[in-house]
Amino acid sequence: MMAASDAAAFLTYTTKALYLDDGEMAVIDPEGVTISSFVNGERKTKPVYEINWQPGEESKGAHRHYMHKEIHEQPDSCTNTMRGRMLPKEGLVKLGGLEEVADRLRGANNLIITSCGTSYYAALYGEYLLEEYAEIPVSCELSSEFRYRDAPMDEKTAVLAISQSGETIDTLEAVREAKRHGALSLGLVNVVGSTIARETDAGVYLHAGPEIGVASTKAFTSELVALNLLALFLGRQRRLSPSQAREILEGLEETPDLMRKVLAQEDKIVFLVDKYIEAENYLFLGRSYQYPIALEGALKLKEISYRHAEGYAAGEMKHGPIALVDPHFPTVALIPQSSTYEKMWNNIEEIKARRGTVIAVASQGDPQIATLADDVFYVPKIPEPLAPLLTVIPLQLFAYHLAERLNREIDQPRNLAKSVTVE
Ligand code: G6P
Repeated sequence: MMAASDAAAFLTYTTKALYLDDGEMAVIDPEGVTISSFVNGERKTKPVYEINWQPGEESKGAHRHYMHKEIHEQPDSCTNTMRGRMLPKEGLVKLGGLEEVADRLRGANNLIITSCGTSYYAALYGEYLLEEYAEIPVSCELSSEFRYRDAPMDEKTAVLAISQSGETIDTLEAVREAKRHGALSLGLVNVVGSTIARETDAGVYLHAGPEIGVASTKAFTSELVALNLLALFLGRQRRLSPSQAREILEGLEETPDLMRKVLAQEDKIVFLVDKYIEAENYLFLGRSYQYPIALEGALKLKEISYRHAEGYAAGEMKHGPIALVDPHFPTVALIPQSSTYEKMWNNIEEIKARRGTVIAVASQGDPQIATLADDVFYVPKIPEPLAPLLTVIPLQLFAYHLAERLNREIDQPRNLAKSVTVE
């Protein structure tokens, strides 16, 4: 990519003029972009944002679909989210976008995370993480609900909007509502210069690169990584020691390589899709950090295969979904090594007792799960809070390959849009 200084030098000699719709012309030069109207001669100046995307990133390459390419890009996109922001030896995280508001963040009494769709499931993950690392009270709010509620907020409240596009109207309006109450507004956004990025007081860019497939994949895992960085940033302000932070940072550094190991097992997913192709309904179960991943796995399946799927907190199973279980209703159970392993095991036993079929996503080195579940997909061992970065990959691949077998419009599923900019 051309460095910013080279680009500026290039533009010194090359002023570009672009003709836009509505009788406007944009003149681009090193100072910025000036939009002039042919109708009334009015001029508006727009700031220049540096976008860290390489030319060619927006092409499909050897992949049949953007979604497949984006699933496979995750080790690199997550690395890009971490790049230049982690100092493991010192147990520190550097987030330039938050420096100006660091003092206000230190004094914040609570954090509200607001978002939609897949980004909302990232928010739920963030809730567990931020409470564990930073001991700050966190609540997650669907933006479309939050903006119409009378949630108590003041200048001691921080509101974090998570949005891949930075343009989702409900999330944007939720940010505006928070600002009207005097809250500190933060953004966790992929698209540089997007409206949410511009309107929030401060924020963290994902740097995941362009995501073209409507169903979000690499932006989701980058959101999880960015939430880790934010939780460490706040954690070091509040309660985490350098050595605790160092351990987490070292785990994060290893994650992209472990993601590659998961992606290398794609054949197993193709086998599972073949085996379960007739199933019309699926249940996804998880606990704790795996609960948002169960929700995301079900959402991916619905979005692109049009098969019905429900995501549930496994502990809620006996409050309803268990009534649905029969041999034709497979359950995808997320059971990596964790503090809730035994509880998940019990849930799987309950499903098996009702003649349900179970596909388990478990940790390598857990042979006993194969004696209980019908099928097992193994992911490498990793500290519990980071396991979602691995367990979500087989779920993305399962949705992708099922949709492919069913000849669905994978990159542009029916009735869905990449950016929802109207209510
Ligand atoms: C749409 C997209 C989803 C996305 C959601 C939120 O529904 O199809 O993939 O998760 O919007 O988008 P955002 O850009 O705010 O993360």
